[in-house]
Amino acid sequence: MDNTFLTLFLFLLLSFLHRPISASKFHKINQLNTDLLSQPTSSHHTSPSPTKYFEVTKPIKLPKTKPFSYNVLHHDFGSTYGKSPVLANYTPPFNCPSKKFSKIVLEWKATCKGRQFDRIFGVWLGGVELLRSCTAEPRPTGIVWRVEKDITRYSSILLSSPQNQTLAVYLGNIVDKTYTGVYHVDITIHFYPSHHDTKKFNSLAFGSGFHADLILPISRNLPLNDGLWFQIQNSTDVALKEFTVPQNAYRAVLEVYVSFHENDEFWYSNPPNEYLAVNNLTDIPGNGPFREVVVTLDEKVVGSVWPFTVIYTGGVNPLLWRPITGIGSFDLPSYDIEITPFLGTLLDGKPHLLGFSVKNALNVWFIDANLHIWLDAESSRTEGQLLNHIDKPLAQSLVYDFNGLNGTFLTRAKKSILSSGWVRSSFGNITTSLVQDFDYNNSMVMGKNGDKQTVNQLIFFNNRVQVKLPSSILDLVDDTYRKFSIYLDTDEIEKDIDGYLLVTNVSLGFDEEKYKSEDSGFSNSFLNNVQDGQGTMVVKNNLVVSGVGETQQSYKYSSNENCYFRKVGCSNYTILYDEVKNSCNKRSNSRFGLNFIRKLPVML
Ligand SMILES: *[C@@H]1O[C@H](CO)[C@@H](O)[C@H](O)[C@H]1NC(C)=O
Ligand SMILES: *[C@@H]1O[C@H](CO)[C@@H](O)[C@H](O)[C@H]1NC(C)=O
Ligand SMILES: *[C@@H]1O[C@H](CO)[C@@H](O)[C@H](O)[C@H]1NC(C)=O
Ligand SMILES: *[C@@H]1O[C@H](CO)[C@@H](O)[C@H](O)[C@H]1NC(C)=O
Ligand SMILES: *[C@@H]1O[C@H](CO)[C@@H](O)[C@H](O)[C@H]1NC(C)=O
Ligand SMILES: *[C@@H]1O[C@H](CO)[C@@H](O)[C@H](O)[C@H]1NC(C)=O
Ligand SMILES: *[C@@H]1O[C@H](CO)[C@@H](O)[C@H](O)[C@H]1NC(C)=O
Ligand SMILES: *[C@@H]1O[C@H](CO)[C@@H](O)[C@H](O)[C@H]1NC(C)=O
Repeated sequence: MDNTFLTLFLFLLLSFLHRPISASKFHKINQLNTDLLSQPTSSHHTSPSPTKYFEVTKPIKLPKTKPFSYNVLHHDFGSTYGKSPVLANYTPPFNCPSKKFSKIVLEWKATCKGRQFDRIFGVWLGGVELLRSCTAEPRPTGIVWRVEKDITRYSSILLSSPQNQTLAVYLGNIVDKTYTGVYHVDITIHFYPSHHDTKKFNSLAFGSGFHADLILPISRNLPLNDGLWFQIQNSTDVALKEFTVPQNAYRAVLEVYVSFHENDEFWYSNPPNEYLAVNNLTDIPGNGPFREVVVTLDEKVVGSVWPFTVIYTGGVNPLLWRPITGIGSFDLPSYDIEITPFLGTLLDGKPHLLGFSVKNALNVWFIDANLHIWLDAESSRTEGQLLNHIDKPLAQSLVYDFNGLNGTFLTRAKKSILSSGWVRSSFGNITTSLVQDFDYNNSMVMGKNGDKQTVNQLIFFNNRVQVKLPSSILDLVDDTYRKFSIYLDTDEIEKDIDGYLLVTNVSLGFDEEKYKSEDSGFSNSFLNNVQDGQGTMVVKNNLVVSGVGETQQSYKYSSNENCYFRKVGCSNYTILYDEVKNSCNKRSNSRFGLNFIRKLPVML
């Protein structure tokens, strides 16, 4: 997606299309948009209302107070590619009579009409990323969509006074005769006052609800003719950012934002280089299907991200994502890495370096981060030391068997990272440890001389933070298990000089279990979010000219506090069924039979 060269490339492609395409060329999925329903709407008819697109997710739990709402930006994103981000002055909500807010929600609302690619975009405040997202692809009759994101964790930058901040939005769009869609965007921030004006007290921040006192942007500085993200071009490319931490910090968490584009947009389906070399496929992105985002601090690996396979709204078959968009596509997940064990090395008042790289990367990955820092209100200096750091080397294997363009490939990877360290503050001497365990399998089968590809990928991830308090026999534990799955089957049924017919089946899964023990007690939550899609499409000159997409989604969330279930299905732009349930079924308030629990939180 988002390729300036793409438009240019299309023209080149068109001129190449006059030569016959070789009958056996590996079919690689790419991003597309559609030319369906392009008949002009006559003025005699009432123009149809715009289609409302949405991502299925649980609603944000809001307090019953009346929000103070503030429209921060209105902009029409036309020809914005490679230009400076759109900027707006942001003033904290001084006019609001209330000063304490228990919830802050960012609302992105956009409309668009015509034909356009899916565009990645980012929203930053003072260089701190608030939202990474992808636009919906428009229809000639118009679309509208809304993204609501709980941004309460960014309170310190949203409410910091008296300093004003700059809000920056980068959405690189290209408008021409073919790609006519202009994105009309409004960003509003809703501040929900707390029920009670709670006094801020010096309380340890490992419980939930205590947001960082300071957030340092680990992104590129304005002015820029691009997004504030770093761009990782290949497997040796490293993005570095210098930062300095206040000397009374006692906790630090790095929140990493990641998105993948162009040659790595569908990284999980990239064939191994061995296959490409033998078959002389020089124009197919390779490096195999494994990627790892590695985060370093002063050249030590502090953690990794094995990302969820977000499919953008133009991906695989764009008709699958209308109006139900792909999991995570309107609100890309960010990934937290506890770096408190390393804090001792950062308290010297000197600049330090965070680094980002991507194993096996092809161009291009957009990465940046927010460093959340908690400060000790009772002291001007804290101290600490790293006690233990083990970065186990990545265990990787590739087993393959292929004959020409047919073949099977099994890629496996495994890795663990461990760190522990103590920090002494007015709360006492606290030891924090982080363990990250990753496990990855990808099976790829190519058939019909490369016209058919089936990918099955699974990522297991356990992130466990344990905090030893000086006074308590109970450790605080924050244990998260994630399972990211993707099944993708693409079958090119027919092919001629200027197009092809592609049948695609996709299944995307995002499962998460969280266990937390903190001062206030024990909490848990379970999420099982699965999307299945079946689509056919005829693609001519890189445009989908006919086809149909069907998508079914099942979203099941339950926690010790609340539940949310939704089952929704659509076909050819129409919702077929939509069942929502908010109440918890006591019996089902347990695991969804996810088979990846290998250990439970240890209470001692
Ligand atoms: C912040 O912005 C507001 C409104 O634009 C302005 O009145 C105020 O003077 C600004 N404050 C600072 C410190 O720049
Ligand atoms: C990797 O990307 C960097 C940054 O664009 C570039 O300087 C370097 O030459 C590239 N390395 C390779 C091996 O292509
Ligand atoms: C690949 O190219 C080499 C050298 O041009 C040639 O010998 C070989 O037959 C080609 N292989 C295929 C599968 O086309
Ligand atoms: C804090 O605790 C750790 C681990 O128990 C210990 O090694 C360290 O010396 C202690 N630091 C201070 C300043 O007491
Ligand atoms: C990968 O496959 C191996 C062997 O079948 C299995 O033991 C492991 O649990 C699998 N891991 C994942 C993440 O699927
Ligand atoms: C590849 O598989 C197809 C059937 O899917 C078969 O017709 C073709 O002959 C195979 N090609 C090779 C080189 O084995
Ligand atoms: C694709 O989905 C259709 C409809 O559910 C099903 O009949 C077909 O077997 C699926 N094909 C593959 C290869 O998964
Ligand atoms: C999809 O819906 C449109 C009108 O809403 C209709 O013209 C078209 O035939 C439908 N396509 C399929 C494959 O059902």
